[in-house]
Formats: sequence, C-alpha cells, structure tokens
Amino acid sequence: FNLTVLISGNGSNLQALIDACASSALPSTRITRVISNKADAYGLTRASNASIPSTVHSLDPYKARFPNAKKPKLSSPEARSEYCKDLAKLALEATPKPDLIVCAGWMLILTPTFLTPVAEAGIKIINLHPALPGEFDGIDAIGRAHKAFLAGEIKRTGVMIHEVIEDVDAGQPVVTQEVEMREGESIEELEARIHEVEHGLIVEGTRRTLLEIGERRKAGGGA
Ligand code: GRF
Repeated sequence: FNLTVLISGNGSNLQALIDACASSALPSTRITRVISNKADAYGLTRASNASIPSTVHSLDPYKARFPNAKKPKLSSPEARSEYCKDLAKLALEATPKPDLIVCAGWMLILTPTFLTPVAEAGIKIINLHPALPGEFDGIDAIGRAHKAFLAGEIKRTGVMIHEVIEDVDAGQPVVTQEVEMREGESIEELEARIHEVEHGLIVEGTRRTLLEIGERRKAGGGA
C-alpha cells in the first residue's frame, strides 16, 4: 500500500508511521509522499531522513489572494476552498497514487473542494485527534480536556483515529483509546502521555483501514 501523510508540525506521528512501515507493524506499506502546510515543520526533516518525497503547500498565498476582510489574520472561506482544491490536485497527481491519506498532526480544515475529488478517486482519509469521539473536537483538544479535568467535569480523555468527513473531527471512529487523567499532573505531562498513545494508535488505525481496503478490493468492491 502507498500512504500520503499530511503534517503541520513536529511529525512525531509521521515518525511512528515511518518506523511502522520499516517494521512488520505495517506490512507491504510505504509512505510515498508527505505534504506539509508549514515550510518549517520538523516533520519535513523526518521525511527527508527517511528519503520520502515531500511537498510544502502553504496557505499564505491563498490568504493574500483572497483576504479575510473582517479578520485579516485569519484565512477566508475562499482562501481555504482554493487552497484545498489545489491540495487535492497535489494529492491525486502523485505517482504512485495513494491508497490512503493519513492526517498526522494536520492542523487545517479540509473543505469539500478537497474531500470530494479525493472521495471520487476512491481514496479514504483518516485523521488523528487527541480526544474521544464527540468530545473536544477542533483545536486545543488536550488543553480543553485538561481544563475540564481541573474543573472536575471529566476523569479521562483519550485519542481517536477517525475517517475524515466534512464535519470537523466527526467522522466514523476507526479506533479509540482512553487516557486516564491524574491529580496534580501538568498539561505537559498529560500531553506527553497522550502523544505516546497517539503514536501507537496512528499505526493501529492505519493498519485497520488498510486491512479493510484490502478486503474490499478482494471482494471486488472497486477502488
Ligand atoms: C497531536 O496531538 C496532533 O493531534 C496535533 O499535534 C500533536 C502531535 O503532532 N496536531 P505531530 O505528529 O507530533 O506533528
């Protein structure tokens, strides 16, 4: 199988996938492309260390072309839509074509101008999100979970790998894992424990999805 991995930062989850492809954790699977929205993402270094071709696809030119009149710092819907249209071209023109796109520490919302062409090409997308289904969707999930714990509202949080649909972080979960929260634990300590769980789950979520893709192909289910 060929994976395209989308990243935005450190790439510790990309690294987990790189290591899994090298071991028997993800048999006959390789990452054939890394795409980052940030030129300074350390994940790009991890990709080049593993001789994986990478591309930087920045949102900045789109923000300049389609400014957000009300909030100049933020991107406008047009900028995001145009950005994602070109991101789909990047992802689909790649050779070999990816069997699966994995969002690993990817921080941008994927609009229908990306999701539709990718779905039409029969390619699934999965995403890592450091929260349990239906809880703390969107940004700073870990920070918000920690606040809820300090307020006595929750005792545990978790991590999930889910299919990507238009509603942010709301797609069908592929695999989830709970993370118990601890009295007096700092946000940094919680984050470190959550990242550990992420690294295992991103591999397991990818493995299960590829298994399902393989089965569907065997059953003659098309792409
Ligand atoms: C993860 O919590 C991810 O959800 C968030 O950044 C953390 C690690 O990302 N976006 P990375 O794989 O180390 O870049």
